Amino acid sequence: MSDTLRIAVIGGDGTGPEVVAEGVKVLKEVAKQENFGLELVNFDIGGDRYLKNGGVIITDDEVAELGKFSSILLGAVGHPDVKPGVLEKGLLLRLRFEFDQYINLRPVKLFPGVETPLRDKKPEDIDFVVVRENTEDMYVGTGGFLKKGTVDEVAIQTAVYTRKGCERCIRWAFELARKRNNPKGKRLTLVAKTNVLTFGHDLWMRTFEEVGEEYPDVEKTYNHVDACCMWMVKNPEYYDVIVTTNMFGDIITDLAGILQGGMGVAAGGNINPDEGGTSMYEPMGGSAPKYTGMNVINPIATINAVSMMLDQEGYTKAAERVMKSIQIVTGTKMKSQTAGKMGYSTSEIGDLVCENL
Ligand code: IPM
Ligand code: MN
Repeated sequence: MSDTLRIAVIGGDGTGPEVVAEGVKVLKEVAKQENFGLELVNFDIGGDRYLKNGGVIITDDEVAELGKFSSILLGAVGHPDVKPGVLEKGLLLRLRFEFDQYINLRPVKLFPGVETPLRDKKPEDIDFVVVRENTEDMYVGTGGFLKKGTVDEVAIQTAVYTRKGCERCIRWAFELARKRNNPKGKRLTLVAKTNVLTFGHDLWMRTFEEVGEEYPDVEKTYNHVDACCMWMVKNPEYYDVIVTTNMFGDIITDLAGILQGGMGVAAGGNINPDEGGTSMYEPMGGSAPKYTGMNVINPIATINAVSMMLDQEGYTKAAERVMKSIQIVTGTKMKSQTAGKMGYSTSEIGDLVCENL
């Protein structure tokens, strides 16, 4: 924590800039009230510029510039006129890898007043955190084609797991379970597929058991990923902290996201916790092109990401105040978390969070 928080801001595509504007609004207000300095630097990176600049997504200079910040706030990636995958790989995944953001932190918390598709489940039942490894697995992009386009075509896409990669992620998850100090008991659940991925996930399991010996106060449990999907719907209250591989983490956090009220609420952090690391915080919903410029999209997920960013930056009190205010607004003001049905506009929700800080 320093006297002045410096943040790089990438609004990105579609509704990204609109929700980021509300996140920044709340950030400015809480900085004023908590009396710390704030320096925001905007980066014009995204689909529009890519189309104008003849295919430049992000320059090496911009990557180097972003690397000087400890936190980046990112709106959304995905443009209707750009082929799917280009911006996702060229921007989002590039930054995750370049900055070695090896933790993808995805809290799953049902806020008061928010509707969940799970009948009879309440905020106290849906309150866990998924720690997704963010730099390995099938995301590394190793593989290739053989005899492409012929009837004999072969495609190979390799999942890569390293001892270092899984150990640093598992250790961070154990530390998080300690920090959360769940009154129902600290529990870390490894989610993998050891019955089929008998090499890669065997490494994960052995590492989990070895590192786990250093954490006798944390209960250690294991779920196969398919069973986890079932339990998450049936008994979400079972989970405290989940640690999992990159690809499975991608999938189960969409399921978890809908349990907490959908993409209007869910936030994620791509974190490099090492000294001098650059982390990146984002709402989990996409760029929602059809709502662009209409002032109807839900900014709560972005404001939630801002709270996570403040927490990781060490501004604990500011983070808590934002988190509390979000819950007042969802619990007592908003009619729904769905775009266009909130009872308020995008900017009015930002104002409400500021007023209730
Ligand atoms: C996510 C997204 C990304 C991922 C895509 C856009 C590359 O789905 O952040 O969960 O797969 O990680
Ligand atoms: Mn995803």
